[in-house]
Order: sequence, then C-alpha cells, then structure tokens
Amino acid sequence: MLNSILDKNYPETVEIIEVGPRDGLQNEKEFVSTEDKIKWINQLSHTGLKYIEVTSFVNPKWIPALKDAEEVVRNIERVPGVTYAALVPNHRGLERALEANIDEASIFMSASETHNQKNINKSIEQTFPILQEVAKESIAAGKSVRGYVSTVFGCPYEGQVSIENVIRISETLFEMGVRELSLGDTIGVATPLQVQKVLDTLLRRFPADKLAMHFHDTRGTAMANVLSSLEMGITKFDSSLGGLGGCPYAPGASGNLATDDLLYMLNGMGIQTNIQTDKLLEAAQFIQEKMNKTLPSHTLQACSIA
Ligand code: HMG
Ligand code: MG
Repeated sequence: MLNSILDKNYPETVEIIEVGPRDGLQNEKEFVSTEDKIKWINQLSHTGLKYIEVTSFVNPKWIPALKDAEEVVRNIERVPGVTYAALVPNHRGLERALEANIDEASIFMSASETHNQKNINKSIEQTFPILQEVAKESIAAGKSVRGYVSTVFGCPYEGQVSIENVIRISETLFEMGVRELSLGDTIGVATPLQVQKVLDTLLRRFPADKLAMHFHDTRGTAMANVLSSLEMGITKFDSSLGGLGGCPYAPGASGNLATDDLLYMLNGMGIQTNIQTDKLLEAAQFIQEKMNKTLPSHTLQACSIA
C-alpha cells in the first residue's frame, strides 16, 4: 500500500501564482489603503514568487476595493523576473492597464451563463468578441495574456456546469492567444475525483503546462484538489496568501487556497517552488495586521502560536 503511494509521480517543481492582492482583496469591505497594498506587493516580490496578480482594471463601481488599480501598479517596485499581472475585462480596462504598464493582462469569463452575466454583465456570446479584442490589442502592445475560466466545477446559480461548456470556452480563449488558462473553482465546490475527471477530459485537448488550477477553499477541499491535480501532471496553482479571497458575484464564495498552506505542503513533499517560507510568512503577518483580523490560512496561525 505504502509502495503504491510512494510510486506516485509528483512533479519536481511547481509554480505558484499569487493572486492575493487581486482575488484576496477584491471582496473586502474594509478598504486596504493604497500604501499598504503597495508595501504588501513589494514584500511579496521579495519572497521568490515569480508571478503576482496585483489588481483589477474592472469597473471601480463594481469592485471598489480595487479602485486604486493605477496607483498601485505605478508605484510598486518592479523586481526583475517577477511578472505583475492584472484582471482586464474589456477595452477600457486594457487602456488603463497599458497606461499603467502592466506586464500581463488576465482575461476572464465563466463556463456558466448566469455567473458570467452577474459577474461581467454580459452573456457568454457577448463576452467572446470583447475578450477577443482585448487579447488582440494586448498582444499587439507586447503584453501577453492569461485566461481564466470560472465556475468550472460548479456555479452558484446553476449548480452543475457541463464539461462541453468548459471545453468550448477554453478552446476559444486559447484561439484568442492566451498563454495559459486558469481553471477556476470559483465557489469551492470541487472534490478530488471530480478534478481528476475534468482534467482527464481537458488534458486530452490541452497540454498540462498550459493549465493552472485556481481553487477556492469554501468547503475545505482545496488542498486535496491540489494533490489530485498534481497526480494528473498539473504544475501551476493560483493561491492567495493567508487564504484571503472571494468573488463578490458568487454568493458563498470564500477564501482562495492559501499560498502559505500550499507552500507548506509542497515543501514537505520535496517539490521545489523557489519561495522562501520566512519571507512569505512575514508578508502574511503584515497583511493580517493591516486587515486587523485573523486570516483563514492554517500555516500562518500555526506559526503565530509556535
Ligand atoms: P458594465 O457596467 O456593463 O460596463 O460593466 P459598460 O461597458 O456598460 O460601461 C458602464 C460604465 O462603466 C461606463 O462609464 C464605462 O466607462 C465604465 P460611464 O460612461 O457610465 O461613466 N467602465 C469602466 N470603467 C473603468 N474600467 C473599466 C470599465 N468598463 C466599463 N474596465 C464590466 C462591465 C465587465 C466592466 C463590469 O461588469 C465589471 O467590472 N465586472 C468585474 C467584476 C469582477 O471584477 N469580478 C471579480 C473578478 S472574477 C473572479 O473573481 C473569478 C476568478 O478569481 C476565477 C475564479 O475564482 O473562478 C478570476
Ligand atoms: Mg477566484
């Protein structure tokens, strides 16, 4: 039995995509000051993380927590080798992102019609040409594009989401030129075998190194889902330091998979990430203090009482 566990072929390295400053903060009622956001992102830049999603160029009326996107992007320290990305929903968002000189634009849409409509105020069909234009213009401006498909494992409004929808949207986003696609469990309903079934289907169409997993931990299954994704050959994971996070247009959505918990597990499995635990935990403590509340991640709390 132990032999069969040890036989599992886990990757040697994993890339962690830090989405805390964007997904982590977008739903926060208490506004985190621009200055604190900048300080936090600067700390994250020195942890060894190679990719930080720093904000969103969405309509500030929809996401007031990130209304300071320009100021944040213009004033963070740009550490060479780190990619600074932001969500971009449309042409107006791209204009703002390019003006602020973001490194990469992340376009996003949902695999379920109702969540897409509630989140970006458009049907799925209406969204395609908008994102097509953003991708084209971004690439023409020399900025690569990352794609997100949300509600891959379930929708807060529609329940089950068909794999055909996920495939169609993924194919369309790749045709637009996205460099990599992040598969979102927006409301944290996925379970490990479901993840493997979905990946088994998608990996017949897309290479593993073009897919990242984006788990929310609403029901405590995010880490188990990471493990089952690793077993399928996935090596890229989105996570949020301290387990902050949630989508305001997905009722019940809670924090993302916590970067500090993910790092703990990967370190224990001997999987390289290049991230320094002490610096990461310092950055987690910083934002926890600024937010004046206990963050949901386990590792941070364990180290606070140690
Ligand atoms: P809309 O209101 O339908 O936009 O919003 P519109 O085109 O009708 O324009 C209305 C007004 O908004 C206009 O201003 C525009 O200029 C302005 P007015 O003429 O009335 O003064 N506007 C903008 N202003 C600044 N920046 C912009 C922008 N666009 C329009 N980019 C829109 C459509 C998509 C913009 C809106 O629905 C929106 O901002 N949605 C974003 C919601 C969001 O950020 N949700 C969370 C992120 S997704 C997520 O969390 C899931 C993910 O983590 C993966 C997962 O977990 O599955 C990625
Ligand atoms: Mg998310």
